[in-house]
Parts: sequence; C-alpha cells; structure tokens
Amino acid sequence: MYSLGVNRPESSTTPTAALIGEHPSIVRLRQLIDRVGQSKARTVLIYGETGTGKGLVARLLHQASNRAPAPFVDINCAAIPGPLLESELFGHEKGSFTGAVGHKQGLIESADGGTVFLDEVRELDMVMQAKLLTLLDTRRFRRVGSVRTTDVDVRFIAATNKILLGEVKAGAFRDDLYYRLQVVSINLPPLRERGDDIFMLAHAHLQVCNKVYGSRMRQLDPEVEDVFRRYAWPGNVRELENLIERICLLEDGQQVMLKHLPDRIIREARNASPLPAASGGAGAGGKPYHEATAQFQKKLIAEVLTDCRGNLGDAAARLGLTRHALRHQIQKLEMNSP
Ligand SMILES: Nc1ncnc2c1ncn2[C@@H]1O[C@H](COP(=O)(O)OP(=O)(O)OP(=O)(O)O)[C@@H](O)[C@H]1O
Ligand SMILES: [Mg+2]
Repeated sequence: MYSLGVNRPESSTTPTAALIGEHPSIVRLRQLIDRVGQSKARTVLIYGETGTGKGLVARLLHQASNRAPAPFVDINCAAIPGPLLESELFGHEKGSFTGAVGHKQGLIESADGGTVFLDEVRELDMVMQAKLLTLLDTRRFRRVGSVRTTDVDVRFIAATNKILLGEVKAGAFRDDLYYRLQVVSINLPPLRERGDDIFMLAHAHLQVCNKVYGSRMRQLDPEVEDVFRRYAWPGNVRELENLIERICLLEDGQQVMLKHLPDRIIREARNASPLPAASGGAGAGGKPYHEATAQFQKKLIAEVLTDCRGNLGDAAARLGLTRHALRHQIQKLEMNSP
C-alpha cells in the first residue's frame, strides 16, 4: 500500500513543490517550469486534457519568474461573451460605445509587468485571434475607441485542452497565431499516464479534505488502489479530487473502500485493458494477476448481489452485464449461486 511522507527533492518553499508527483514526466515538468519560468520567454502555450493542472502550472510559471511580484491575471476566454471580450481585454475610452460611460482599463494593461493567463484560448473568435497576434508581435494594443496605441510588458501564457493543430486544420484557429503561441509549449500528461502519482495526489487530497471537513480517511484499500490504477480518469486530477471530497463528506471510517466508489468507476475500471502482471504487486498484495483479478471480480459480484438482495437480474443490470453473462461469471468464479 502506498505510504505518506514521500521525500520531495525540492524544498517545500519552492513554488513547484505545490505540484504533486514523482512520475518522471512530472519531475521533468517541474524542471521545465523552473527553466521556462525564469527565462525571457514572453509567450508560453500549455496543452493538457481537462483537469490536468494547466491553471496550476500557469500560476507556477508566474511564481517562478521575476514577474512574480507583479499581477497574474487569469482570463477565461470562453467565459466572457464575444462582444464584451475586446473591451475587457483592451479597455475602452469614454463614449466609445453605448454604455461606455467612462474610461476603463483593460485586463491586459492591468497585468503590466506580470503575466496574463489566456485560458481556453481556442475559444477566441477569428477577429480576437487577429488582435491577439498583433499584440503578441508588437506588445502594443489599442483601447476600444482610442486612436493611440499603448505599450505593455506582459508574459502571455495560453492554455488549451484541444489539440490546436487540429483546430488549425479545421479552419477554426489561425495558423500564424498557432505557430506564434507554440514556440515554447508545455504538455501536461493525463493522470492515467502518471503511475503511482494517482495515490500521491489522492493522499494529499485526503489530508486537505480531512482538515476542511473533519473526516478521518487516511488510506486507500488495495482494491480501491486497483480500481484507481485501471480507471481512465477522463476528468484527470480534478475528477480525482472531487471523488475524494465526496467520499470524505459522505462516508465514515479511516479507509476508502470499494463500496465508497461510484458503480460507474468500478465498472469502467473492470472493463479497462488488463494491467501487466508485474505492476499488480502494489495494488493486489503481490498476488499473481489472474488470482487477484478473480478475487476482485468475486468481491464486486458478491457486493452487488448483496445490495440487490440476491436478485440476479438487478445485479446484472447494475454491473452492465446480461443475466446470462453474470450467471456464467458466477459459475466460472466458483461462487455460490444466489
Ligand atoms: N500535479 C498536481 N499537484 C497538485 N494539484 C494538482 C496537480 N495537478 C492538478 N492539480 C489540482 O487539480 C485541480 C485541477 O487543476 P487545474 O484547474 O489547474 O486543471 P486545468 O487543466 O486548468 O483544467 P481545465 O482544463 O478544466 O481548465 C486543481 O485543484 C489543481 O490544483
Ligand atoms: Mg483551467
């Protein structure tokens, strides 16, 4: 079973210590954040599936840079309605459009000397993409309604969970902006490719939730570890954090058990491609793969059957199997028929 108290190579005072994980890809990521953070790169692109930590990495890049004392301005390009976006980003002069009652400083200007984080950059429409490209090239912009340009010194960090090259090919994203953005790019690996980091992240979040909610969950049952290893985590670290939070809020005890996990996650983990036998050691108590899998299946079927008071049809439905397939499994696993 995974234990707490992992030694981290960095001192906990470095900003990247906030990034949990010891998988080689995360160790490299920490080094890259330090290097890019301290570099003169004025544009950085972060790519990663939803919930992989793009927002966190953007903040760490800012903290690792000499811009850290200046503002970090987080702009979600998908959250600001198109017509408002230009004046939100660039500001406007008094009377430049109906409702512009006074001069307003834009978000980009407010970040002068610091970092602007353009989250979900793919959502910018073509007009705003062109304006952003000009801004990246010249470091100048024009407030809405102004004839003068304003200089600004900011680092732009753009993030996306869509593969931008695909968007370029589909005609939804300017190719010149894409090439401009991806000069320095950082790819965040999905959680399912980070090995035992899943457990490190789970434990760290258990500690956070125990503090916040007064729960006492400290460990993951080996069967839970097995599910965590196999499940694909489409929502990545955020999905893991939400799951841990739900368990700490709703369940009692000191160990996260299989029965605390949603059926869907158990089902999807069971349907996932089998793990290589060698990696079963930590999650399955060192038992050979087939024996450990059979035990897991038996326990799952027994629990669902108990929940369904022995009703084979109901249990099969909950497990996503036909009644016939469930009976076959029960015979194969040499379980007592209900
Ligand atoms: N390696 C990590 N160590 C610690 N916490 C992490 C790590 N990666 C992600 N997190 C946490 O996971 C949650 C989701 O991360 P974040 O919001 O940065 O993801 P995102 O990639 O920006 O997601 P989205 O695409 O949905 O915007 C946050 O609470 C973040 O602090
Ligand atoms: Mg984000």
